[in-house]
Amino acid sequence: MTTVLDIKLLYSEQETSEAFRRAGDGAEWTFESEFLHRGQDPEQLVDSADVVIYELEGHSEADLQLLHQFIVAHPEIEVFVTYDNADMEIMRRLMRAGVRDTLALPLDEDEYRKIMSELLDRKRETMDEARGKVIAFMNAKGGSGATTLAVNLAHEVASRHDLKVAIIDFDIQFGDVALFLDMPAKSTVMEALSQASRLDGTMLDAVLQKHASGLAVLPSPGGLSRVSDITAKEVRRLVDVACDTHDIVILDIPRLFNDWTEELLRISDHFMLVIENGLTTVRDAKTILDQMPTFNASPDKVDVLLNRAEAKHGSVNEKQITDALKVEHIVRLHNDYTAAITAQDRGQPLSSVAPTSKLTKDIRHMAETVAAEVSPGATRKPGLFKRIFTGQKAGA
Ligand SMILES: Nc1ncnc2c1ncn2[C@@H]1O[C@H](COP(=O)(O)OP(=O)(O)OP(=O)(O)O)[C@@H](O)[C@H]1O
Ligand SMILES: [Mg+2]
Repeated sequence: MTTVLDIKLLYSEQETSEAFRRAGDGAEWTFESEFLHRGQDPEQLVDSADVVIYELEGHSEADLQLLHQFIVAHPEIEVFVTYDNADMEIMRRLMRAGVRDTLALPLDEDEYRKIMSELLDRKRETMDEARGKVIAFMNAKGGSGATTLAVNLAHEVASRHDLKVAIIDFDIQFGDVALFLDMPAKSTVMEALSQASRLDGTMLDAVLQKHASGLAVLPSPGGLSRVSDITAKEVRRLVDVACDTHDIVILDIPRLFNDWTEELLRISDHFMLVIENGLTTVRDAKTILDQMPTFNASPDKVDVLLNRAEAKHGSVNEKQITDALKVEHIVRLHNDYTAAITAQDRGQPLSSVAPTSKLTKDIRHMAETVAAEVSPGATRKPGLFKRIFTGQKAGA
């Protein structure tokens, strides 16, 4: 999972909130701000954060006591104090109490960004190496094959490699990951999300269903669950916990852009964008790639998977696709309707129903590349986004 930094500002003046928000624009961290009343305990406003910035502005002794208690109770949070006009004696007291640093107002944006970037780098260094990698799948047009490829890749890695793999179906309205594997949706992603704030590995394990291959599956509920019932924070928590206990976490994400789907794309280490060679699919893929920077997700981590690569109905060729999408490389997957539909109808993986199909072999190649990427000893700089397949032949 791509580690992000959670910053929370507790402000007294609206313009302070705006100044910090502006300074974080386009940065790889999440920012929330909340008005703190005099006499209010910061504990009530912060449930989890890496950094808390506290605006000090005419606070009473009782407020300072509450801040002190908060710092002592949360050694895991870096607390900064921002101020316009501060009493130096109070500052010294707060520094002794454990405040990490002060940020004078008006805010020096460059300095602020530098400090937060350093904290983010440090967090990534300590967390990224040991954690599971997240691979997101989304189609650029309905029915392009994202679920087929996500499920079969997950199954292939889980059954042929010594790695713990989970697949989470975030297509909460029309998801069919469980159906593709003939598994009952006994417990679902919605249940896990509803307990997100207290979710841990044991709770997640209780809702994950185990396929015979070893693959852990968190199905979608279907039944038109409301997408607005989910928050970005909940999905992040769920994926975060899944990364603690799995080497690879595969996400099937609906083609929908809102706070939580964008969060999923932001925190994913790799993004498999599944397309077919039709003009409108390629146009939609371009829209998605162009939009990614607006929600702070790097297009550099995208692999474009051209499914049914040699299908006759395709209206654009590969060169036109790479030119339009400005990518050097695409991963091609063969068209095999009989294998795909038989696997789907029987609720079995492609490797069982069509072990010699070219499509199955393409997915096997992908699985080998993915497994090599996450296996111990794979050289990967923490926190750097990148494609998995660039420069190598994953598909046929
Ligand atoms: N390489 C392929 N060759 C032939 N048929 C395929 C291939 N990949 C997928 N299919 C078929 O295409 C159909 C759509 O596949 P799938 O459900 O995986 O797409 P999707 O992108 O997840 O669609 P949705 O928009 O419903 O989420 C299915 O019937 C599947 O069997
Ligand atoms: Mg799908």
